[in-house]
Amino acid sequence: MNLKIAIPTGRLFDEGLNFLRNFDKSLPEPSQVSRKLIFKGDKFEILLVKPLDIPTYVEEKITDLGIVGRDIIEEKMNKVAILRRLNFGKCKMVIASYPHWELSRDETIYVSTKYPNTAEKYLKEIWKGINFKIVKLNGSVELAPLVKISSCILDLVETGNTLRENNLVIKEVLFESSAYLIANEVSFVWKKSEILEFLDQIEYLEGGYDKGNNL
Ligand code: PRP
Repeated sequence: MNLKIAIPTGRLFDEGLNFLRNFDKSLPEPSQVSRKLIFKGDKFEILLVKPLDIPTYVEEKITDLGIVGRDIIEEKMNKVAILRRLNFGKCKMVIASYPHWELSRDETIYVSTKYPNTAEKYLKEIWKGINFKIVKLNGSVELAPLVKISSCILDLVETGNTLRENNLVIKEVLFESSAYLIANEVSFVWKKSEILEFLDQIEYLEGGYDKGNNL
C-alpha cells in the first residue's frame, strides 16, 4: 500500500494515529510526534492537518484519504467519498442551554456555535417557524450563554464535562458523531485496489462494527 492520509490534530490525533499503527507499525507513536507535519511509514504517508481543513485536503487530492469526525464532514460539505465509519471519536452534536431554558416562539433565539452550516441546516428542520440567529464562534462555545451572547449553543459533547462545569445541559441531540474514513473521489478510482485492501484490513480489525458509508 502506498496511500497518503490526512489525520486531524487535536482530540482525534492520538486515536487516529494509533488506528493507523494497527496497519503500519513503522509509524511513530503519538507521543513521539512533535512539530513535524509530514511523516512517512512503510505503507502510509501521514499529513497532520487541522480538523476543519481535512475535507479540503482530501477533495483537492493533496491526500488520498482522510480521517475526520462526522461533525466536520457535515459542516464542510466537500465533495469526497465517505468510505466507512470508524470505531473511535464517538460524541454527539447537541443543542445545550441552562436547565430552565425553553424554546420560545415569541423571540429571536441566538445560538452560538463553531458549526454555522450545520446549525443552519438542522435548526431550519427542527425549529420550524422559530426565528433564530447564529453567532459563529471559534471555540469555548460554552462561555456564550454564561456571558449572554446567546441563550443556547450547538456543539459537540463527548464526556459532558464542559457542559457540566458550566451548568449547561443537553436540550436536544442532533446526531451521533464518530470518526470516518473519507477518500478523494479520483484516488478511489485510481488507487482502488490499495484502498479496498486497506478497507478489508479495517474490516478484519473492527469486525462486526457497522460500516455504514453514509452519514
Ligand atoms: C470540544 C467541544 C466542547 C468540548 C466537549 O471543544 O466543542 O467544547 O470539546 O467535550 P466534553 O464533552 O468531553 O467536555 P474542544 O475541546 O475541541 O475545544 P474548543 O471548544 O476550544 O474548540
